[in-house]
Amino acid sequence: MIIVREVAQLRKVIAERRQLGVNGEKKVHDSASLLQHKVGFVPTMGYLHEGHASLMQKAREMADTVVLSIFVNPIQFGPTEDLDSYPRDEARDLEVARREGVDIVFLPTVAEMYPQPTQTKIHVSALTDRLCGASRPGHFDGVTTVVAKLFNMVGPDLAFFGMKDAQQVAVLQQMVTDLNMNVTLIPCPIVREADGLALSSRNVYLSAEQRKQALVLSQSLRKVQEVSEDIVQNTVTMEQIRQMVESTIASSPLADIDYIEILTFPGLEPLRPEQRLCDVQDDIIVALAVKFGNTRLIDNIRIQKVEVLSHV
Ligand code: PAJ
Repeated sequence: MIIVREVAQLRKVIAERRQLGVNGEKKVHDSASLLQHKVGFVPTMGYLHEGHASLMQKAREMADTVVLSIFVNPIQFGPTEDLDSYPRDEARDLEVARREGVDIVFLPTVAEMYPQPTQTKIHVSALTDRLCGASRPGHFDGVTTVVAKLFNMVGPDLAFFGMKDAQQVAVLQQMVTDLNMNVTLIPCPIVREADGLALSSRNVYLSAEQRKQALVLSQSLRKVQEVSEDIVQNTVTMEQIRQMVESTIASSPLADIDYIEILTFPGLEPLRPEQRLCDVQDDIIVALAVKFGNTRLIDNIRIQKVEVLSHV
């Protein structure tokens, strides 16, 4: 596994890998083989857990070269957010990367990523107004800008993102489409602890009691899952779903609800309370953000219209 901290070095090692054939097996020099060699990219902010590992596994499955980046991106944190306390453990992260068969780890410093004050940012409009975009102004500009920079540095064919951050997936897909970026985004399912809590680097902030009560997020979404056939058969309104989720979360005295939203995916169009699934064309997601003390947790579930319908 190659560890690089500088952009120039990163470009060099990726170019060398691209000279290898599919699976990195033998040196080939014809341009068809160069095109066939797939570079898969997993961007992260480190403190890696099984959610991140699942993205690396998918990348390992689909790509010839797997590049992982670890960079706690200052421009996606608000002034009162947890940039300084964001958990970091480089040695452990490198072990996880090695275990998952990553080929290249990119670990830039802030100065390497932002050598001068930037005057350019990428702003995706409507999709970023809602959900986490409303609670965290400027957050998605930070995400799209750093991901665009990373894409320019790595030049991946495939890039892997978790549906844990469903809005991030929708926003990045919009950016890639709008700017004709030559990369395919692969959304990957949410990985959970055995008791249902969605894995997150921020879970380490939770006290034992908060950790216990945080289970209401996944429990409320499991209830949505249980009625998904009723949702598909249009016997349940959006307001009924919202109330079911809200009452489950409200059963935790430590939970402070930021939002419970039901929207189309990937369009993120909010649905009105009286609407039913038959009123929309797309899949829907039920998305939550709930604070426990200073720790803000997010989770969501996607109801896939076509897939669920085929089970009915
Ligand atoms: P980070 O929070 O480190 O997450 C990196 C990737 O791991 C994201 O695509 C995220 O959705 C995915 N992920 C996190 N928890 C997951 C889980 N429980 N199951 C499945 N996937 C999970 O997201 C970011 O970093 C940053 O915004 C980044 C895209 C790197 C830009 O700075």
